Amino acid sequence: MKNIFFSLCLLTLLPLQSAIAIMSKVENEPDSVYLFSYATQKNAGHNGLHFAWSTDQENWTPIGPEFRFLFCDYGRWGVEKRMVTPFLFHGHDGIWHCIWSVNEKDGAFAHAESKDLVHWKPQSYPIFMENNNCLEPEISYDTANSLYTISWLSTAGDKKQALYTTTIDFKNYSPSKEMLLSDRLNQRERLNISGNTETGVLNKVPWQLVDGLIKTQQLSAYRDLLWSESAKTDLARFASLQPVDATITVNNLKSKKISDLLVGVFFEDINYAADGGLYAELLQNRDFEYSLSDKEGNDTSWNSNKAWHLNGDKATFNIDTVSPIHPNNPHYAVLRINEVGAGLINEGFDGIATKAGEKYDFSVFVTNPDKKSKKLIIRLIGKNGENYGETSVSTNSTGWKKFEAALTATKTASDARLEILPQATGSVALDMISLFPQKTFRDHKNGLRADLAQTIADIHPRFVRFPGGCVSHGDGLGNIYRWKNTIGPLESRKPQRNLWGYHQTAGLGYFEYFQFCEDIGAEPLPVIAAGVPCQNSATGGAGQQGGIPMCDMPDYVKDVLDLIEWANGDAKTKWGKKRAEAGHPKPFNLKYIGIGNEDLMTDIFEERFTMIFNAVKEKHPEITVIGTVGPTFEGSDYEEGWKIATNLGVSMVDEHYYQSPGWFIHNQEFYDKYDRSKSKVYLGEYAAHLPGRPTNIETALAEALYLTALERNGDVVSMASYAPLLAKEGNTQWNPDLIYFNNIEVKPTVDYFVQQIYGQNAGDTYIPSIVMISEKNESVRKRISVSVVCDSKSNDIIVKMVNMLPVAVNAKVNLEDIGEIMPSATRTVLTGVPDDNKARPVADNIAVSKDFRCSLPPYSFTVIRVKTNTREKTPN
Ligand code: AHR
Repeated sequence: MKNIFFSLCLLTLLPLQSAIAIMSKVENEPDSVYLFSYATQKNAGHNGLHFAWSTDQENWTPIGPEFRFLFCDYGRWGVEKRMVTPFLFHGHDGIWHCIWSVNEKDGAFAHAESKDLVHWKPQSYPIFMENNNCLEPEISYDTANSLYTISWLSTAGDKKQALYTTTIDFKNYSPSKEMLLSDRLNQRERLNISGNTETGVLNKVPWQLVDGLIKTQQLSAYRDLLWSESAKTDLARFASLQPVDATITVNNLKSKKISDLLVGVFFEDINYAADGGLYAELLQNRDFEYSLSDKEGNDTSWNSNKAWHLNGDKATFNIDTVSPIHPNNPHYAVLRINEVGAGLINEGFDGIATKAGEKYDFSVFVTNPDKKSKKLIIRLIGKNGENYGETSVSTNSTGWKKFEAALTATKTASDARLEILPQATGSVALDMISLFPQKTFRDHKNGLRADLAQTIADIHPRFVRFPGGCVSHGDGLGNIYRWKNTIGPLESRKPQRNLWGYHQTAGLGYFEYFQFCEDIGAEPLPVIAAGVPCQNSATGGAGQQGGIPMCDMPDYVKDVLDLIEWANGDAKTKWGKKRAEAGHPKPFNLKYIGIGNEDLMTDIFEERFTMIFNAVKEKHPEITVIGTVGPTFEGSDYEEGWKIATNLGVSMVDEHYYQSPGWFIHNQEFYDKYDRSKSKVYLGEYAAHLPGRPTNIETALAEALYLTALERNGDVVSMASYAPLLAKEGNTQWNPDLIYFNNIEVKPTVDYFVQQIYGQNAGDTYIPSIVMISEKNESVRKRISVSVVCDSKSNDIIVKMVNMLPVAVNAKVNLEDIGEIMPSATRTVLTGVPDDNKARPVADNIAVSKDFRCSLPPYSFTVIRVKTNTREKTPN
């Protein structure tokens, strides 16, 4: 009966909260019921903690088939993150503790606690068995000593042992001790749930608790229903819908200041965004530092020889490490020429793109082990050896020395190669072999690929976040991105494995990132690890239990402070001098630093984050520190992250969410409720994801719609960046991305144009408007959104209108409240059918007045930029 009532509530779209309030008044409920907690084996144990309830222990009702109330966040993405044999225990203080095995091999168990079994505190993974596993953990409580005992089984070969530890708080544990196998309580039961035998733990609990679980699951099902709404079902949803009228009346008196940094970009070296992408170097593996470990040994061709081969059999080619140019760059090639004409070829990143008539800078470090000078001919060649342009260097060095020469390409090609032909027999050692187009973005040496950089610049991003994402905190402690490894002469930079499974040369390093920001007038926003690696790390074990050891944290904190000195310090300071030596004596004027990236909010995180935060605040109160609140818009990391930020008074936090278009449609009020006295928000990663992960008009409009809400909340949301930014075709680890590219083309997505339109039409004052819509249906109303801003530099009024309906919206815009406006405005429209992935914005001029009409095509984003003489009323 209750379920029928609940369904009716859903059908009539009665607000869920009122439905819950009514239901909680039902009198004939049991005082207590049995609650069975278990994890099913479905999906290899990835489905998390489940509940079933019963009044008689005979008939069991699962709460939502396969509904997970708690998910294991241990280990890396994909095959790991399993919850094995969960054990739920009701503590003496009313707190629920859940512990479980994380797998069959690791010597840690996982722990999480909750008051209501719905909201869980962040998980921890204490390690007890260095070289053994930790199976079937269970909890008991010793009232006399006020201690929890946790026991588990461990199997090494044929030997099975039982061990235990004690704790009062699930944070500090006594050293583990062996116990008799027969002393284990073995409190798990096997029950039949929906025809399957499940193993779990039985508790007797108040009905209200179970009622809360049921409603949580129902609410979740209801949210899933809303959030999975997509344009595919629009025809049925809006079958009889006729064009809708909307009257938009601005209220200038209520205008408010909003962030002038709202739209920026998120750059991460993912999908070959850096090497082979934005970084203009044309040769792959120029330093011979590719290593099997970049790909965890899964690709035997991924080694120091990668992308290099000989042009015949009259030469040999070895990798040596005896006497490198720099210890950070230990590998180099030794080429032995038996007959002149033989040489070494680099295939670039799936070929080298050349343009006839354009110049390229070649450079190489050479030493001649046989002490004989050698001329090297450097030649761009086609697939069949055709000469596409050549140059030469005469090398006479017996120690490492850099040689440079320019060459002009004679042919436009996408798949050229570079050939190095020593003109004498004997040995020559080579390293840091490089070919750069002279035409880089803003003509910088060691610069950026001009077309890609320009496409990013065209967004007019107000900030650039770098170097990631997960790349910032890295795959295990050894892989944390260290900015100091990425500055200085290229040969001394320290390359490393990229967590996305390839190689980072660090050629695109901190200097190049800051320089790019300066070139495009964007604030640099470096994000550094909070002393912990990515919680999805493949190495290190036990999630983030492997934070930087506390004894090493002072050095790590110093690195962060040094970064600020490097960016902003006088050229006479130690680190400012290094910046000046790199060619930038003036400070970069760094204002923001992100600490952490969607980390798991453990005590280990909090301790290290606090240490870094306090040090930066003390020495550099002028820097805005951006904290982190987990990988999504709710849940334990989000809640705990916000708590930490609030306690510490962190000025801004970094939120992330990748969600369906339906989520964005139904969450436009997400920030309306945010407490303005707390941290500001940097929405550092977001994107609309559809099944199959395409980008098209539907995803683009969902983002455009949501951005109107971000502008409305621009007093609390200071910055936002779509993620990820770049993806090289054929080398993607993540879809969708904002801009795809190959060696010769740049392919912005429809979603890119939403960012571009917002970036090019940003404002710094929000002007509220009353939007009257002729339709009462909420589904219709939610698909029309409006934002009006003023750009104080130009005094232009910018009206943004999104129509996610399959019918036109006849908009009437009333600007009566604005001062004098010019009669002609520019209009930009992005429109198409929902799955259109080729749509491009079209701009024209339209006549406007204080009260003008404008039709918004079905599925469209329209921006009207109105020129004013002056605005009559100043904002609050
Ligand atoms: O944007 C891709 C990845 O998504 C980022 O590296 C990470 O922060 C998030 O999980």
